[in-house]
Amino acid sequence: MDIVIPYTPREMQQELHQLIDNNRFTVIVCHRRAGKTVAAINHLLRDAILCPKPSPRYAYLAATFTQAKRIAWDYLKQFAGEIPGVRFNETELRCDLPNGARIMLLSAENPDALRGIYLDGCVMDEVAMMPESVFPMVLRPALADRSEEGNPKAGYCCFLGTPAGHNLFFDYWKQAAETDGWDRVMFKASQTHILPESELDAARVAMSEDQYEQEFECSFVANTPGAIFGKELQAIEEAGQVCRVPHDETKKVDTWWDIGMADATSVIFTQTVGNSSVNVIDYFEMRGEGLPFYARMLDQKGYLYGTHNGPHDLEVREMGTGRSRREIAYDLGINFRVIPKLPLEDGIHAAKTFIKRCYFDSEATSDLLEKLRLYHRKYDEKNRQFRTSVVHDFTSHAADAYRSLAVGWKPRSDLNAPQQRSADMSYNPLASTSL
Ligand SMILES: Nc1ncnc2c1ncn2[C@@H]1O[C@H](COP(=O)(O)OP(=O)(O)O)[C@@H](O)[C@H]1O
Ligand SMILES: [Mg+2]
Repeated sequence: MDIVIPYTPREMQQELHQLIDNNRFTVIVCHRRAGKTVAAINHLLRDAILCPKPSPRYAYLAATFTQAKRIAWDYLKQFAGEIPGVRFNETELRCDLPNGARIMLLSAENPDALRGIYLDGCVMDEVAMMPESVFPMVLRPALADRSEEGNPKAGYCCFLGTPAGHNLFFDYWKQAAETDGWDRVMFKASQTHILPESELDAARVAMSEDQYEQEFECSFVANTPGAIFGKELQAIEEAGQVCRVPHDETKKVDTWWDIGMADATSVIFTQTVGNSSVNVIDYFEMRGEGLPFYARMLDQKGYLYGTHNGPHDLEVREMGTGRSRREIAYDLGINFRVIPKLPLEDGIHAAKTFIKRCYFDSEATSDLLEKLRLYHRKYDEKNRQFRTSVVHDFTSHAADAYRSLAVGWKPRSDLNAPQQRSADMSYNPLASTSL
């Protein structure tokens, strides 16, 4: 008996199916409304029907349960509904096929609940909206269970989505170009011609240029809406200041900190070149560790340190011990300079103007750069403007450490100069005008 699934793949969908068939890991970047969710569901359905193994398991992972239920579940019922003997479990969003195969619609909202499953294949849809841990902590182990000697494609995963800045999805996109067993493809609206020109024109009117570039032309670099350092970072990138900046062993390394006890701690490593430009050579971020951990980290980096600079909250006294963080750090060999406290907006202004002095190492500081690019202000939907408040999220620690650098940095000559003991009476306020 022939079963006909009511699905005729578009050209772009055919390419997508081929890519998934030919690789274990695929990253597919695609414009809105191209038909990626329809293609994903049909791919899983075909593989589930044809899988010769006992009890095959396939999963479609959406960012939220509501997304899975509202969009993918309807598609799954529509396409799998044609198969005689198929059963749908509406509460668990699960479809059981007559050959014992099962397709599950899962959500990335609670990754811990997904631990312990095994999978023959899966698709992650709208990866840009998912927490970072889902693939490495949950899906990757689930896929390892069904890997097979001689079949490098068993236990596959397809990462699907539309760009949303330089986030996790962008990392997978980069990884796919560099790693064996991975492949990638990008479909822009101007290439697929799936959406009629009139539809695209209407979208252009309703969206900002950056939004349109992101949603329909798959741009990872279109500015994050409300990005605080977007313009300045783009300018130095265009000027070639994001490049390889190797550690210079003949110069000391300064560090700039944002210290979080429950939250993340971020450390930026710089070397000053001449009296005005700053090489940002390294970056470190970790959460849930105490000061001894960071003292060891500094040792392991092996740099010869100049100054360690931290925010004013170093003076906070720890509960219990009654000692300040600066005192504890001092005992561990980190002698912190405390950076003067400035209002947040003044610090942000200082950071913006400081960016043009900096050369960033494109590899060792890529995490820092991406977080600085994504650091943004809240958007107020009702008033259609960016509010002045800054979003506190995973990017804030990098941005706060950078603020420490911008506010606290001094030319090397100033740092080395002995402290002035008495007023300098020979100072001539007009001397500089004669230059
Ligand atoms: N092969 C196809 N033939 C006809 N219509 C399709 C096909 N694939 C998708 N569609 C339709 O295109 C629209 C967008 O599909 P969807 O998969 O939800 O897009 P995306 O996930 O890329 O935003 C839906 O209305 C869907 O029914
Ligand atoms: Mg979709």
